[in-house]
Amino acid sequence: MNPVVTADNMLLAALKLGLVLAAISGCCMLPAPLADREMDRQQELPQRIYGLLDKMSCSRKLNASATFALLLAEFLIKQKLRYVPPTRFERQLYYHLLHRMEHIKSRSSVSPATATGIERQILESAFQRNVMLLPPSVSYGQLDANGEYEQLAAIYGKVVNEGHPNRTQSDLCMREIVELDLRNCKLPSHECLELLTSDAPTFGYQRTHQVLLLYMLQHHVCAPHLSPPQVYELLAKSHCNEVVREQNAIRSLGLSEQYRDLYLEQATICGLFGYNEVLNWRNVMEIGSWFEDDADDGDDNVADKSHDSQHINDLALVFYINAMLLLH
Ligand SMILES: *[C@@H]1O[C@H](CO)[C@@H](O)[C@H](O)[C@H]1NC(C)=O
Ligand SMILES: *[C@@H]1O[C@H](CO)[C@@H](O)[C@H](O)[C@H]1NC(C)=O
Repeated sequence: MNPVVTADNMLLAALKLGLVLAAISGCCMLPAPLADREMDRQQELPQRIYGLLDKMSCSRKLNASATFALLLAEFLIKQKLRYVPPTRFERQLYYHLLHRMEHIKSRSSVSPATATGIERQILESAFQRNVMLLPPSVSYGQLDANGEYEQLAAIYGKVVNEGHPNRTQSDLCMREIVELDLRNCKLPSHECLELLTSDAPTFGYQRTHQVLLLYMLQHHVCAPHLSPPQVYELLAKSHCNEVVREQNAIRSLGLSEQYRDLYLEQATICGLFGYNEVLNWRNVMEIGSWFEDDADDGDDNVADKSHDSQHINDLALVFYINAMLLLH
């Protein structure tokens, strides 16, 4: 095919989809103000998502966590498109978002300075190679929202850093999962599978990483060779019960700024399984309010906060996209 013709066709298609808008609404535009609290919910999430993508497109380099968030967000949209026929409005929105995210990724590839070797290996495959798409849905009332949390709250600051997998173990296990050999579908180490299935106490980011690893394994084409689908669901449920308990503890402590990033990570990762105890409008609004606070803070502490706030933005992107796809 004549490449010139192809480019023309693409331009035409882009015009039709309104992608030209994306090209001009480039970097570092001020995020559109959230005009009105009563704004139609259908508009609210896309607006927030575009705001986050605008911020992301401004940072010169994406680090591993931002790139991972983009890969996961793209995966969620593609999965939804595969199983649920979109309305015209949704189709336009989803393809526009996919296009925008591809663009951000292509402009700022992860630099060796900001990603370790393992991270780069993970980012080459995660949510791109050998994935298994599963029909997404919200599940109501699956988790135990009334687990004991007062005692946990009393010691939370001490235990929040305890448990497994720690960061190193998590990266190693994640690499094993994304690089599973399709010929035998065997995880090279026993440790990784043990970490996923363990019911030993674990908290904070250790717990969320356990759940994320489980999600990644469940969505790998090797998953059915390793366990029947019910096992993944049972494990997710039992881990996310603990996550909800932790969230209740964090709430009872006043959901202070110190725990916001973790709280959002918990909501995002258990939200991937569709549990409405974490994936709901209350959380959408709650989390949105943090970003509005931020905007009021002025510029002086942006530099201080940029470290944390980048990670929290990465999480929010995935949380909002999943909410957009699943909450109606
Ligand atoms: C992670 O846990 C493993 C196994 O317990 C341990 O050997 C390693 O030192 C830990 N790494 C970090 C960074 O805590
Ligand atoms: C990515 O950068 C953010 C902010 O600079 C930091 O908090 C986070 O730990 C980094 N993540 C990774 C995986 O390097």
